[in-house]
Order: sequence, then C-alpha cells, then structure tokens
Amino acid sequence: MNTNRDKLKLGLFMPNCSYWASISTYKPDPEDWTFDSNVEIAKAAEDAGFDFLFPIAKWRGYGGKTDYLGISLETFTWAAGILTSTEKIQVFSTVHVPVFHPVATAKMGATLDHIGKGRWGLNIVSGWSEREFSMMGIDVIEHGERYARTESYIDIIKGLWTQKPGTFDYESKWYKISGGDVQPQPTAKPHPLIANAGTSEDAKAMVAKMCDWAFLSPPSIKEAGEVVNDIKNRASSYSRRVSCACYPFVIWKDSEQEAQEIKEKLLEEMDDEATQNWANGLNKQSGSYDKHTLEMFSLGGGGIPIIGSKAQVAEMIRELYTEGMDGMLMSFLDYKKDTVRFKNELLPILRNMNIRK
Ligand SMILES: Cc1cc2nc3c(=O)[nH]c(=O)nc-3n(C[C@H](O)[C@H](O)[C@H](O)COP(=O)(O)O)c2cc1C
Repeated sequence: MNTNRDKLKLGLFMPNCSYWASISTYKPDPEDWTFDSNVEIAKAAEDAGFDFLFPIAKWRGYGGKTDYLGISLETFTWAAGILTSTEKIQVFSTVHVPVFHPVATAKMGATLDHIGKGRWGLNIVSGWSEREFSMMGIDVIEHGERYARTESYIDIIKGLWTQKPGTFDYESKWYKISGGDVQPQPTAKPHPLIANAGTSEDAKAMVAKMCDWAFLSPPSIKEAGEVVNDIKNRASSYSRRVSCACYPFVIWKDSEQEAQEIKEKLLEEMDDEATQNWANGLNKQSGSYDKHTLEMFSLGGGGIPIIGSKAQVAEMIRELYTEGMDGMLMSFLDYKKDTVRFKNELLPILRNMNIRK
C-alpha cells in the first residue's frame, strides 16, 4: 500500500429526509428528520473528527407504507443552518440540474461558501426521478443528453466562480449566459468541491472530466478496486485527480449474529412498494428486480452493507481503503448514538490500522 496516501476521509449521509437510511418499517429508534436533530448529529460528527456531511435532495416521497423520503429538508437552506452550527466539517448541498438555473446555483453556492468560510461543496444530480419532476412539469430527458446538459451546467458554475465577474459568456444547447456575474465569488480555491454519484457510463465519463469527488457503487468490496481504478485512470487521461468514495450502510454490534439479526429485521419489514418505486425510478428500463437487488436498495439506498462485529466492520473498512477508496459516506441505523459509538469503538481500531488520522 502507498504509505504516503491521505488517510481515509469519513462522512455521514445525513438523515435530512424521513426514513433514510432503510426502506423498512423496522425502526428501533423514533423517526427523526428534524433540523434540530440534524444539528445534533452534525455536531457529534464534527466532535468525532468526521470530514464531511452529505444530505439527500428529494422533492417527493416514494409511496408505500413509509412514503420513503416523503419529508425532506431542502439541502441549500439546510446547509446554511448546518454550516452556522459547525466550525470545521465540510457540508455539501445537492442540486438537481433541471430544477435550479446554474446562475442561481452558483450564487447560492458562493453564499454558502462565505457562510461556511470555504467549507461548502456541491453534489450534482443530473435528474432521474420522473416521480418528482412530473410534479413540476419537468421532463426527464434521455440519459446521454442529461449528462451532456450536466457538463454544460458545471462549465457555467465553474466559469461564474472563477472568471472575472461580468465577463463570462457561454452558450450551449441548454443555456445562454451573457456577461455572467456572481459576486461574491467563493473563497475556496480554485472553487468549491464538486461531487457526483452517478452509476452509469455517462456519469463516469463526466466525473472523470469535471468533478473532484466520485461517489461509487461497487457491487462488492472485492470489486471496489476495479471501479476506483477505472475512474482514476479516466481522470488521469485529463491530467486530473478525482477522489473516490463509497456509501456503506454500517451496522455493528458485539457479535456478528446480533448485527445480522438487525439486518434480518430490516429486511423482514422492508417496504416493498416504496423499494420498487425507488428502483424503478432509478432504472426506468428495468421494471422488475430480483429479491437481492431490491434488498440492497432497501438497505441504505443501494450502497455496500458493512454489517458485523466491531472487528469485522473495521476490517471491511480497511479492505475498502486498500482497494483505493479515499472516503466513506456512512449511513447509520441510529445516527445520534452510532456517531458517538463509532468515535469510541471504531475510530481507535482504524487509527491502529493506520488508515485514519
Ligand atoms: C451517494 C449518492 C448520493 C445521491 N444523492 C442523490 C440525491 O440527493 N438526490 C437524487 O435525486 N439522487 C441522488 N443520487 C442518485 C445519483 O446522482 C444518480 O443519478 C443515480 O444513482 C443514477 O445514476 P445515473 O445518473 O448514472 O444513471 C445519489 C446517489 C448516490 C450514490
């Protein structure tokens, strides 16, 4: 292993939405998407030395018994509050390209950068959810077109953030900017971090060319290296470096059996209808999924489950780091307790392994 590598970055996939992180009615702890709760979790994450916080951007729920993600705090306004409640941790917002004009996003982002003194970042979602967009009369366009529009969107945001205010002109199939002017410009240089979490070939091509962080969905821990190397090699061909992260649902108990029992309970009470709606939205072409794939969606939205005893979970995290992951965006069952437990129980082991600062 390259010993000069940066240590593993840790983030929390925040519960700013109802029923995140599992599409299940099994809830050992009360549902709590409220802003006060998010602040408490953000502060606990900062106290644990975590590096970043990531919300979910949703406009409408996914039906079923849970109406999965039906209640959600909007992520730009959420980030403003979280940034003023914290001091060190990086806070992301997530934008759906067709919903906010790039000038509006650049302006809101620059404002958040100033509020957080350079601690804000942007996750860009090209826009896949017909269920949400139909409510606004916005069409979900063809996949390749969607990503071509996203490239244009990022070009504009970067231009507005980095070029002399009032001088940025741009024209593409989707946007026309004349004398683009965003002031103040962000303090983060060259610009705030830009992330994407797409899984498709279109997404990978775009991330390598334009983003700072890629949130990836490897099918297993063993296959993570292949997925990471693919992105890093593509980025190298543009003389760029892209950091890679995965987004595991992490459950650890005293024994593997206890942890597996929790997983079984979550799956026994899986909300089939909401899970199917979520999966269908992500891949309109498919329509039917095998049980295993639906269960993966139901546990943490499709990220790799990391479930076991403390020692097993630490070992799986080490393997992901060894496979080349620079970061991990974690979902927990009970964020308030688990963030503190992670600090006390897992961080010391990860430090001993020399993979965490
Ligand atoms: C870590 C992560 C975070 C994501 N956040 C959101 C989100 O907040 N809102 C959303 O609509 N989609 C979100 N997505 C969906 C992706 O951006 C992407 O559009 C989706 O996985 C489909 O991939 P594709 O666009 O490459 O087809 C997220 C995905 C991942 C893996």
